[in-house]
Amino acid sequence: MVTLEEVRASNAQVSESLSPGLVTVFVGGTRGVGESTMKGFARHVAQPRIYFVGRSERAAARVTADLAAINPRAECHFIRVDVSLLRNVDKVCWDIKRRERFVNLLFFATGVPTVGKGQYSETAESLYYPTAMAYYSRVRFIVNLLPLLQRAPALRRVVSVYGGGCEGQLCLGDLQGRSLPTVLSSTTSTPLGLDLRSHTSSMMTLAFESLALEAPDSHSGRPRSHGIIVIIVCLGLSQGPAAPCGG
Ligand SMILES: NC(=O)c1ccc[n+]([C@@H]2O[C@H](COP(=O)([O-])OP(=O)(O)OC[C@H]3O[C@@H](n4cnc5c(N)ncnc54)[C@H](OP(=O)(O)O)[C@@H]3O)[C@@H](O)[C@H]2O)c1
Repeated sequence: MVTLEEVRASNAQVSESLSPGLVTVFVGGTRGVGESTMKGFARHVAQPRIYFVGRSERAAARVTADLAAINPRAECHFIRVDVSLLRNVDKVCWDIKRRERFVNLLFFATGVPTVGKGQYSETAESLYYPTAMAYYSRVRFIVNLLPLLQRAPALRRVVSVYGGGCEGQLCLGDLQGRSLPTVLSSTTSTPLGLDLRSHTSSMMTLAFESLALEAPDSHSGRPRSHGIIVIIVCLGLSQGPAAPCGG
C-alpha cells in the first residue's frame, strides 16, 4: 500500500509534472471527501478550472471563497443540481460539453445512504434513490463525459469514492436493490453477504470494467480505453454524514 508520505511527495510534484489549466468535475463538492479533495487539487495544480456539483448554495459559497483563498488563479463554477435525477445529469453534462473541449478528471463523492437504517424513497424517474445515486447517476455522467475525457491531452481519470473492495453478491432479480437490507439493518451481512452496498458496489465495478473495455481510445484508436484510468475508492471512516456511523 502506498504510504501517506509517498502520496504527499507525489502531490508536491504535481505543479511541475502536470501542465496548467486542468479541467475537473467534482460531483459532490460542497462538503466531505469531495470538498477536501477539491481543495487539495486546487492547492497543487496551476490554474485549474473546477466545476463542482451539489445542492447547497450556502455551502458552495463557503467552498468557493475557500478555493479562491487557496489558489487565486483557480476558476470555480458551482452547479446547483440534484444528481439523483438523470435528466439533471444530462443537463449538467450538456452544459459542461458546451463550455469545455476536454475534461481531465471526473471525481464522484456524492453521499450515498446505503449503510444506515433509513427508508429510502423513489426518485421522480422511478429509480430507488440510493441506487440512483450510487450507480445510475455516476454511470450517466461517465457515459456523457467520456468523449471529453478521451480528448484530454494528459491526465484522464475517473475516481469514484464509494464501495471499492466492498463488492459482494449481485441480486439479479432486483437490480435496483429495493428489497436489499442496508449494512447496518442487515443481520446476515458478511463481506460476501447480500446487502445494498455490496450489490451496488458490484454493479459499479462491473460497469466500470465494461466501459473500459468498450470505449474506444481516441488517442490510439484501439478498441479499449487504455488512456483513461478509473479508480474506485472505499474510505475508512472520515468526517461526514455519509460515514457509516453518521459522524
Ligand atoms: N465519510 C466516510 O467515512 C465514508 C466511508 C465510506 C464511504 N464513504 C463514501 O464516500 C462518499 C462521500 O462521502 P462523504 O462523507 O464525503 O459524503 P457527504 O459529506 O455526505 O458529502 C456528499 C456530497 O454529495 C452531495 N450530494 C448529496 N446528495 C446529492 C444530490 N442528490 N445531488 C447533488 N449532490 C448531492 C452533497 O452536497 P449537497 O449537500 O450540497 O447536496 C455533498 O457535496 C459517499 O459515496 C460515501 O458513501 C464515506
